[in-house]
Amino acid sequence: MSTIDWSNLSFSYTKTNTILRTVYKDGEWSPIESLTDDYLILSAFAGSLHYAIECFEGLKAFRGKDGRVRLFRPEENALRLQRSAKYLGIEAPSVETFVEMCKRVVKENLDFLPPYEATGASMYLRPTLIGTNPQLGVQSSKEATFLMLCSPVGAYIGGALDAVDVVVARNYDRAAPNGSGAFKVGGNYACSLYSLNLAHELGYKAVLYLDPKEGKYIDEFNSSNFFAIRGNSYITPESPTILPSITNKSLETVAAHLGMTVERRPVPVEELSTFEEVGECGTAVVITPVHKLVDKPTLESEEETVYTYGDGQCGPKSLKLYNYIVSIQKGEIEDPFGWITFVD
Ligand SMILES: Cc1ncc(COP(=O)(O)O)c(C=O)c1O
Repeated sequence: MSTIDWSNLSFSYTKTNTILRTVYKDGEWSPIESLTDDYLILSAFAGSLHYAIECFEGLKAFRGKDGRVRLFRPEENALRLQRSAKYLGIEAPSVETFVEMCKRVVKENLDFLPPYEATGASMYLRPTLIGTNPQLGVQSSKEATFLMLCSPVGAYIGGALDAVDVVVARNYDRAAPNGSGAFKVGGNYACSLYSLNLAHELGYKAVLYLDPKEGKYIDEFNSSNFFAIRGNSYITPESPTILPSITNKSLETVAAHLGMTVERRPVPVEELSTFEEVGECGTAVVITPVHKLVDKPTLESEEETVYTYGDGQCGPKSLKLYNYIVSIQKGEIEDPFGWITFVD
């Protein structure tokens, strides 16, 4: 049995009982294995180590009010992993294998699944696909290893729903025009670290990137999409260089269901001054409200334009959307959209 203090979990790694593995080699996937050791033995020449032939996913399992364990939209993550793998030119597991492994890793690590009462806590699943055959040349890996990892987590940034201050990076991009921004490949995150570290040094929790082609429109944050509320509208960027967030897609559906107008379109930076609520959205915390959004000519510059949203708390419309999604995830209300997969 684990002795975890569920109320003090952060978004960090805790070792669990098992991780799962299946290997693609010679045209087929090996039987799924459970490993108690989370260290891997792989060739020092594996393509993932040299050419970032790696993609991953992130989703969560929740203990419901009724005690049942729920996964939130795992098929969507399976499909997104397949898109990322196709981009890298490597094989991906089927949707069925992906979902089966999600269920199995949760079952084998139930001791690490936070109880229903632990607000903001859940089990984070990290499906990971890496190119593993030894290679020297730059080419897609012929062999791949798919791992299903998990860890109990609390809120990603501060507490759930604590508002954060963020900064616009006009002189750094996370993705190139016509590049890999819309895929969940590890290389994108490596490319955002320099500006993220700089932002952290300046006291900001995240960087908001602009479209890399013209720098005129809002793209997304390091690890979450951007949304804003104005009047009865939920507004979120349409852009070829952002990751299609499953949380954002779910928020759009809920917003429409609750009678809001949903606008997915290019969002010019000038509109920042017109929004009533602004937030980050993603699996880690569903919504992180933004309090201050600071726009600087360069991250290093002293000059700044500050946009302030609300009083440091989550705005009422964002909160309503957040509560709706979390209530589905925790089995507190009916799931009218068929988003839940039970782990029984
Ligand atoms: C770059 C980026 N954008 C957006 C998101 C949010 O996506 P999702 O809602 O599917 O977690 C993530 C997190 O996965 C991300 O890393």
